[in-house]
Amino acid sequence: MKTRKGILLAGGSGSRLHPVTKIISKQILPLYDKPMIYYSLSVLMMAGIRDIMIISTPRDIKFFENLFGKGKDLGISISYAIQKRPKGIAQALIIADDFIGKSQIALMLGDNFFYGNNLEQILISTSKKNISTIFAYEVKDPTRYGIISCDKSGIPNKILEKPKKPKSNFAVTGLYFFENIAIKVAKSLAPSKRGELEITDVNKFFLKQKKLNVEYLSRGFAWLDTGTFESFFEASQLIKTIENRQGIKIGCLEEISLNKGWIKNSDLKSIIKSLGKSTYADYLKKINNKR
Ligand code: TTP
Repeated sequence: MKTRKGILLAGGSGSRLHPVTKIISKQILPLYDKPMIYYSLSVLMMAGIRDIMIISTPRDIKFFENLFGKGKDLGISISYAIQKRPKGIAQALIIADDFIGKSQIALMLGDNFFYGNNLEQILISTSKKNISTIFAYEVKDPTRYGIISCDKSGIPNKILEKPKKPKSNFAVTGLYFFENIAIKVAKSLAPSKRGELEITDVNKFFLKQKKLNVEYLSRGFAWLDTGTFESFFEASQLIKTIENRQGIKIGCLEEISLNKGWIKNSDLKSIIKSLGKSTYADYLKKINNKR
């Protein structure tokens, strides 16, 4: 099986969250009790990916470096790269070219939130597949998203950006498992009308070759693009409700590492100490005592 490396794209202009994002990256803002980027990083980690590059803006990259360092506390390896200007999601593939080398790719957007039963198993099994895969999620208002539709035999045949007359309600979410060739595809793209290298064009390449697998997330899942105040608040509320009701934490990175055997119980002690009186530290203490 080929290795798979992760790209976490956490730049962008975040204009829908102005004025807040005029001074700071949205991916640093707290979704309920942890920075937004915890949730997207947790998705890559749940998929079993341990070698990850975080890409952000010249202004914001230092925050992520300060937050995670080289990833040692999490039992993973994190490197960093800058995207000078937000020239499109597909540009991340070009920026990460050397880092990815010959590996397969998982590209995750830093403002996407996924939650649902069996998510980890779905991610692990998808990551093992040798075919590019996108995740589709049923939405009420398909005119706001990239929408994927199928032919009569259920084979995906079209992706349309914000269609006026949508052919389905399935939105393409911000998690992409790509074959290595996606980098070449990204390099061959011309900027779109809005001046960006569009990830939809990379997906369309695989679709045209009939080499695009679509995983449909079932109705029990939550997927939110947390880049608007509305969805930011909704995600925070969802996290708060589930965490407070069940006494678990969503997106607890150390817990994922511990479960995967990437860090040991003894490693948690110094992490807990560094977190002071927070509820996050209390939670880590709780899971450490359980084992
Ligand atoms: P978007 O939400 O599409 O763009 P944005 O973050 O700039 O926000 P807005 O539309 O409010 O101006 O981006 C999706 C994710 O991808 C988000 O995590 C930011 C990231 N991104 C980059 O890092 N670089 C880019 O060039 C683009 C377009 C997005």
